[in-house]
Amino acid sequence: MKRRTLMKATALAAAAPLALNMKVADAAPMRNADFYTDSKFDEEKAKDGLMAMCKRFGYPLFPEFREKLWVSDYGTGNYAKLGLAALMYENHNSEDGAYMLMDLFLLPGQMLPEHWHLEGDLGIIKNEGWLVRWGKSYIGGIGDNNVAEFPEIEIPKVHCNGTTTTHHVVAATQGMFVPLAELRSRHWQFGGPEGAIITEVANLHTDSAVRHSDKAINDNFLGL
Ligand SMILES: [Fe+2]
Repeated sequence: MKRRTLMKATALAAAAPLALNMKVADAAPMRNADFYTDSKFDEEKAKDGLMAMCKRFGYPLFPEFREKLWVSDYGTGNYAKLGLAALMYENHNSEDGAYMLMDLFLLPGQMLPEHWHLEGDLGIIKNEGWLVRWGKSYIGGIGDNNVAEFPEIEIPKVHCNGTTTTHHVVAATQGMFVPLAELRSRHWQFGGPEGAIITEVANLHTDSAVRHSDKAINDNFLGL
């Protein structure tokens, strides 16, 4: 690299934190009522909120993005505090080989409910890991109880009356990859102050093999 090019690259790197701070300042507060129409969860409004966050982060949006986005409040009526948006890029279910890639989108202070995975299609138990691409996600699961170190995490009342069964948290920031601790182990996430966009990789995802700790959330997800 020529010296002049190197200096330019260094100057850009030095400017990066400032640009990030400006994005934080732009973040609009999200109220729960903004995601509901006549008290009913409004997927289009949820997608509006998500796309605004994606634009703030600079996530590469594309024409089919909105249509492909899956959003849910898991029937809680409290999407601002508990819910998920996900875009499944590939769930490759084949005897020749299985693999999965999807992006998860968490609003600031939004919880992805605690769940685990049983044996699913092709006899595969989902094994997964998470790469935080933008923002920060508190990734919860089995292990030593360290939640007291993160008083900013608020488990909403609609989730097991404000509790989880696992209490080990990894505060994952941009570029950090966190693997699932153990097959079949329970796990959850909580979006940081700017929210989070996370790339999830896995062997295979099977909806019917997902179980949630909260019974109402579990029944809603499985359509029971
Ligand atoms: Fe999972």
